[in-house]
Amino acid sequence: MTDQVPAPRPPSLFTWEFAADPYPAYAWLREHSPVHRTALPSGVEAWLVTRYADARQALADSRLSKNPVHHSEGAHAKGKVGIPGERSADLMTHLLNIDPPDHTRLRRLVSKAFTPRRVAEFAPRVQELTDRLIDGFAARGEADLIHEFAFPLPIYAICDLLGVPPEDQDDFRDWAGMMIRHERGPRGGVARSVKRMRAYLAELIHRKRAALGDDLISGLIRASDHGEHLTENEAAAMAFILLFAGFETTVNLIGNGTYALLRHPVQRHRLQDALRRGDGDLLATGVEELLRYDGPVELATWRFATEPLTIGGQAIGAGDPVLVVLAAADRDPQRFAGPDTLDLARSDNPHLGFGHGIHYCLGAPLARLEAQTALSTLFTRIPDLQLAANPDELRWRGGLIMRGLRTLPVRFTREE
Ligand code: HEM
Repeated sequence: MTDQVPAPRPPSLFTWEFAADPYPAYAWLREHSPVHRTALPSGVEAWLVTRYADARQALADSRLSKNPVHHSEGAHAKGKVGIPGERSADLMTHLLNIDPPDHTRLRRLVSKAFTPRRVAEFAPRVQELTDRLIDGFAARGEADLIHEFAFPLPIYAICDLLGVPPEDQDDFRDWAGMMIRHERGPRGGVARSVKRMRAYLAELIHRKRAALGDDLISGLIRASDHGEHLTENEAAAMAFILLFAGFETTVNLIGNGTYALLRHPVQRHRLQDALRRGDGDLLATGVEELLRYDGPVELATWRFATEPLTIGGQAIGAGDPVLVVLAAADRDPQRFAGPDTLDLARSDNPHLGFGHGIHYCLGAPLARLEAQTALSTLFTRIPDLQLAANPDELRWRGGLIMRGLRTLPVRFTREE
């Protein structure tokens, strides 16, 4: 007989059950193995950082590089990390893959074009797009809110903002659909869609240079800092990363957010009452809470240790990949009171849903605008919106970085 307590076994990660509800596994990791080494589905070994304090610190640690050349096993060269099809050198120059001083220069330039003011002026257009999409299904009494609402809204919005002409926007919708489904379709796979989108953007930038307008691409071309401009390649990489970073994330914020509201009727009615009274405060804190409670970015994008270091007492070797698990950090009871409770009025909410530090989401004002407009319009125009599927039957996408539903079937009283 021995009274030895068996060593706790880590939960299975990256299974279908895990995709449906990763939060119990993350609670286990936070408690027993807060900086946890694991093999990812691609075979690459990485550290998962799950506690809030460690996560926040890691996101701002300059010894953790975003440049995949620092990976000891060269996973990027083998296509195991990063955006599919982005291995050619010109695609590497986007913000999420680079460190200071290059990052500082590019971020300053793009920030001059992609300003909060530009986003605020775009609000009426987002409202128009939202209403048009709801018009498309309101009379039917049923819809799949991912395909008919959460997915098209961000893609049309970012196309409009960038200045992609309306007649080309459906091509973007197709390419984006292929990228988001991570699969091959009749017109090629993810890498091919990435390539087509990039080629289109390069061409568009070239055309716009001859006749600059008010759009964001013209803004990127015009932006200068101490006489420096973006090169055509840099502008194309920037337009691409704005699209890439900005659409699946926003799709998932609208999708996960709607789903969370449908599953929490008390919170949902509280929001609907506030909207009826014309009180927008709960909508603003509510969207932040939805980002914390079930945010679109489950794991922040890759980081690589440039030298040996420790995170939360765990030694990390030079060249090791580190993934900060935003979804786990944002449910840490050491930081959030009642972390598993959805509370739209939560006021002490420094969530990491948009990241932290120098790579903090550049598109946060646009994402907030889209999510606030989408959710408020949807729940106002369709007050009796209901889930039309058993939650156990809903499928979540299995991607590593993002968390989002494949479909969200709903029913409601038809709009006359
Ligand atoms: C960076 C989340 C929407 C553009 C990030 C990061 C997160 C994030 C977590 C940091 C990644 C890291 O440090 O590894 C989100 C969420 C969104 C959203 C949750 C929607 C709800 C958008 C939109 C755009 C955008 C709409 C642009 C149109 C970017 C860019 C970066 C970034 C360019 C890189 C910034 C840098 O490296 O300096 N985002 N994002 N995002 N996001 Fe977003």
